[in-house]
Amino acid sequence: MSDEGRSVRIHPSILSADFVNMQADLARISSADAVHVDVMDNHFVPNLTFGPEMVRRIRAVSAIPLDVHLMITDVDRWAVGYAELGAQSVTFHAEATDDPVDLARRLRHAGARAGIALKPDTPVSAYVDQLAEFDLVLVMTVEPGFGGQDFRDDMMPKLRTLREQIDAEDLDVLLQVDGGIGEQTIRIAATAGADGFVAGSSVYGAADPGSAIASLREVARAARNAAGSSG
Ligand code: DX5
Ligand code: ZN
Repeated sequence: MSDEGRSVRIHPSILSADFVNMQADLARISSADAVHVDVMDNHFVPNLTFGPEMVRRIRAVSAIPLDVHLMITDVDRWAVGYAELGAQSVTFHAEATDDPVDLARRLRHAGARAGIALKPDTPVSAYVDQLAEFDLVLVMTVEPGFGGQDFRDDMMPKLRTLREQIDAEDLDVLLQVDGGIGEQTIRIAATAGADGFVAGSSVYGAADPGSAIASLREVARAARNAAGSSG
């Protein structure tokens, strides 16, 4: 793969932002590639955050692209609405729909990139032959629901399987990881093949979120390039 193919994307998660100072906290991550918006319904996961109105308001007050991660049960009903609000990507959980390909097609039709997310216990085998239907695959490196959990390096085989398939088919699919990403763990995930990185507590917990984003990007880029030149 060529060097320009190895760019990386850093998406801070506003789950770790100050919910009553959201506009200011968005400004603190303006150097990011997109903002990761964790929508939780207290049903698919045991936590509750925000919904379409938050996405609409972020679009209104900020130029940063939106990467929406739906941790909700009824994705077939709600996901397309987030695309219609102008999210750059909408990611739903594989465990939440019987027909991920149909939903992905509807998201693309509505103008968004279509993402599919896999919980830690969900194998990749059912999806490796369908990757062309998606623009993003999210491998959860924690059980979804809360920020600040420890990165699970037992998810790295999933990343390697997906990276091999994406490269073999030469697909334009972002391979994203979410959960426990910081300066140490991002190198592990990037080496295993990830090129998209969600980071909540490590960005918003830093004194300077902008330099935290720059460091994460640098470590990930170096690890991707090293993985590419040896593989
Ligand atoms: C967890 C969310 C994550 C969360 C990550 O269910 O999907 O996006 O914000 O937070 P950190 O980076 O703190 O693990
Ligand atoms: Zn997330």
